[in-house]
Amino acid sequence: MCGIVGFVGHRQAAPILLEGLSKLEYRGYDSAGLAVRDGEKNAEVVKAKGRLSFLYDKTDGGKALVGSCGIGHTRWATHGEPSVTNAHPHVSGNCRASGSGEVESEVVGVHNGIIENYQELKDKLLKHGYRFYSQTDTEVVIKLVDYYYKKYRIGPIDAIAKTMVRVRGSYALELMFKDHPGEIWVARKDSPMIIGINDGESYIASDVPAILKYTRDVYYIGNLEFAKVVPGAVTFYNLDGDEVKKDTTHIEWDAESAEKAGYEHFMIKEIHEQPKAVKDTLSSIFQEDGIKISLPSSFLSSLSQIYIVACGSAWHVGLKAQYTIEDLCGVNVRVEMASEFRYRNLPLAKDSLVIIISQSGETADSLAALRKAKEKGVRTLAVVNVVGSSIAREADDTLYTLAGPEISVATTKAYSAQLVALDSFAIKLALAKGTITEEKAKELIDELFSIPAKIERILEDKGRIQWFASKFSNIHDAFFVGRGLDYAIAMEGSLKLKEVSYIHSEAYAAGELKHGTISLIDQGTLVIGILTQDDLYEKTISNLVECKSRGAYIMGLTSCGKYSTEDSADFSVYVPRIDQHFIGSLAVVPLQLLGYYMSVSRGLDVDKPRNLAKSVTVE
Ligand code: F6R
Repeated sequence: MCGIVGFVGHRQAAPILLEGLSKLEYRGYDSAGLAVRDGEKNAEVVKAKGRLSFLYDKTDGGKALVGSCGIGHTRWATHGEPSVTNAHPHVSGNCRASGSGEVESEVVGVHNGIIENYQELKDKLLKHGYRFYSQTDTEVVIKLVDYYYKKYRIGPIDAIAKTMVRVRGSYALELMFKDHPGEIWVARKDSPMIIGINDGESYIASDVPAILKYTRDVYYIGNLEFAKVVPGAVTFYNLDGDEVKKDTTHIEWDAESAEKAGYEHFMIKEIHEQPKAVKDTLSSIFQEDGIKISLPSSFLSSLSQIYIVACGSAWHVGLKAQYTIEDLCGVNVRVEMASEFRYRNLPLAKDSLVIIISQSGETADSLAALRKAKEKGVRTLAVVNVVGSSIAREADDTLYTLAGPEISVATTKAYSAQLVALDSFAIKLALAKGTITEEKAKELIDELFSIPAKIERILEDKGRIQWFASKFSNIHDAFFVGRGLDYAIAMEGSLKLKEVSYIHSEAYAAGELKHGTISLIDQGTLVIGILTQDDLYEKTISNLVECKSRGAYIMGLTSCGKYSTEDSADFSVYVPRIDQHFIGSLAVVPLQLLGYYMSVSRGLDVDKPRNLAKSVTVE
């Protein structure tokens, strides 16, 4: 959601800012803009609605904007329609009708997040003579900084601190003050932002891929902290205006992993990166000297209840993990959507554990759920992909997935890495609880390590799914059904299809279908049955036959050996055999491929589906 970049150094800023923004395009946006300063001169602002390429053309690839200090933004509209006027940067004075040109303003800035009390602040500023040209909450916050800056004739430190105390909501803010050339000021609360320093120059970004090309050593600005960024140096402050010392964090991701590397889309590239994501994650957890999950066995052995809280696909991982943990460890698991959990007054047992799953580590609802669990005094474990993200830093314990940067909006490799991270946790818990022996654990770990090669085998046969997708790309509806663990995988398969191909699809527990939804099954309706669980196989087959007798076209997804599927299904897909607890890691792959190829067949923007953003940092 929205992207922020900043640069202050010795080279021209605009081309660097544009390149950074292009690395953040995957997050979703509807307009973009830059503000660049040349020494003491006023900032020059250029904005464009739509694709970043329009901004690129408007500025001749950045060459037309002279100056070595600048900020840039891709906007995903929240307050006010997508338009040039509402696009960032915003200014404390009046914006030209075109939104572009040199600005006289004292303060110029960009913002990610949402200012909840913007209306109240706007009313206050109106009374003090400010006029507003846009519908955005960002313009309000920029003008509020200006108000404090001028009213008390104080420097940026106090003006920013006062503003931060006054605004409610979430923000990552970048500001340039007219009287402070060569400086970019940044502030953050609940919205990600990092700063990298290299070779006497400084880079700012809301997300790692934007600056990977220049540096992998970054500073994370803490919540409710702000900073002054100058060429090659940064000074951090807390709300009292006192300096805060910080160390850099090294990002292992390399720049190539954030490029397409010859693939047509990031989504298919990331589907192919799943064997590596799974292997790297497992190898980081299962080491020579033990299972690297920081929760002590003494805590785990007395654990009575687990709550898994997440959003979207990460929530689906929780649904799948619920079956594995309950079966292997005999511990109750509740899986909650973070957006619901955060506003419910769920009594949480003291000897329970809340697991937050999040690829980005910045999802607003998941972060709020984590804080709620902590407030209630319950121990929290975060399963996160992005090192140093808010959720990773705030949780009591963190288990990192090693999927590398995930660029496609639709998650694939991060989801697969999360699945095995939770499976690994289940093994550690089962050992602590004594519900499995060391020998059984070893057997299960060997099975987990067989996943990467088995995913490779599924990918070798992707041509069949591609063919199937091209045949069915005109459908309007699809139903994914399964029982038990297969139901959790059906949920993910259905989400993958709908988000990238815009085909309406629903996932149902196969036994639930006949309680209403079966009335939607008609001649030619596509029903995809997931049938990997031995004990539930016959039951799901019966449900598929019920659909078939009402005219449905049946795709059966099962494991090698269950060839009787072909008696009921019109099209069958097989995945290699593996321990039943882990087969979801294999079954999901053909479903990811199906979503991908459906989207390609329909000529859609696979990596950036409409209305979606990569990391949902607002409620
Ligand atoms: C779907 C997808 C989303 C995310 C969800 C949570 O393909 O990617 O449903 O899973 O927005 O995001 P994270 O994991 O970053 O908290």
